[in-house]
Amino acid sequence: MEKTKKIKTEKGKYYIAPSLLSADFLRLKEELKATEDAGADMLHVDIMDGHFVPNMTIGPFIVKAMRKATKLPLDVHLMISNPDLYLDDFIDAGADFVTVHMEACIHLNRTVNRIKERGARAGVALNPATPVSSLESIIYDLDMVLIMSVNPGFGGQAFIPHAFEKIEQTKRLAEEKNPGALIAVDGGVKPGEIFKSVVDAGADILVMGSAFYGTNDYADLVRSIRK
Ligand code: DX5
Ligand code: ZN
Repeated sequence: MEKTKKIKTEKGKYYIAPSLLSADFLRLKEELKATEDAGADMLHVDIMDGHFVPNMTIGPFIVKAMRKATKLPLDVHLMISNPDLYLDDFIDAGADFVTVHMEACIHLNRTVNRIKERGARAGVALNPATPVSSLESIIYDLDMVLIMSVNPGFGGQAFIPHAFEKIEQTKRLAEEKNPGALIAVDGGVKPGEIFKSVVDAGADILVMGSAFYGTNDYADLVRSIRK
């Protein structure tokens, strides 16, 4: 397996995680290279099963192929029912972060520990209607909390403004119980006001699908964001 870039996780910085859902899959290898060359920090890989969400994407086989084509950390977002069945497959395929949905896990503590025992970083995602308070008894064990700012299933949806408050609440909870936990936001993030406001609210990782792959010049986009 290719060695991945060291995963940078200092708090107080923000990391750009393009979501490949909006990339051109016919040119996946070039897209991966262009994303890496543009200066993105990690790749967000959306896995959908047609059951937990009304859409389907890819499985471990494609993640394994991606792993060979990029050194960027792979942040695998599992929008699937019963994720326990597939944790090992995605970690074996090369996932660095594995994020499961709170709503999909009956024994969340066991699931999170399994991810970490296998050497990956563990994240938990919250749908827009799932309260931050549901993290209280699990945040101690998490490397990442993913706040969904759209209903999962599709790229290109509008940002749900209530997510700002949820990011702030998560930041307060993390400061109290697990200051090392990264806060990610996923859905409808665009450069400009939304980007600035989610960073101000406390987000560390900004997932961007359509706003990233919808531009012609990824490097220019990353430069303009970081300015
Ligand atoms: C939505 C996915 C997102 C999606 C974001 O279910 O989890 O990662 O790709 O796409 P945009 O940035 O276009 O909302
Ligand atoms: Zn996602």
